[in-house]
Amino acid sequence: MRNAYSPYSRFPVGAAALTGDGRIVSGCNVENASYGLTLCAECTLVGNLQMTGGGRLRAFYCVDRDGNVLMPCGRCRQLLYEFRAPDMELMTTRGIKTMDQVLPDAFGPEHLEETR
Ligand code: THU
Repeated sequence: MRNAYSPYSRFPVGAAALTGDGRIVSGCNVENASYGLTLCAECTLVGNLQMTGGGRLRAFYCVDRDGNVLMPCGRCRQLLYEFRAPDMELMTTRGIKTMDQVLPDAFGPEHLEETR
């Protein structure tokens, strides 16, 4: 969160996750003048996951500048869904949940396989 670039919203966000092989990967939001093309903290976290050896996310946590838990936005739930371990735990404003609870009936890579 301290690395965030958020001059437009002034809302720094930090995200961290534990990977299947025991690494901690993190991310922060990176905004730009177009506003709409902002990278959420989850976007840079997933990039860092891939750049540091890949793998799957086992546990995920996202915070605002005061350390309060933040819910991932809709787009970022999709990003997390792609890279989740099957039993990934996600901290939410209402306690620990699974990806299926925060993105039920998700579209995912398995649906592309079905139509090939
Ligand atoms: N933001 C995140 O980084 N992750 C979220 O899940 C929610 C929103 C960022 C995007 C933007 O830079 C700022 O928070 C305000 O929306």
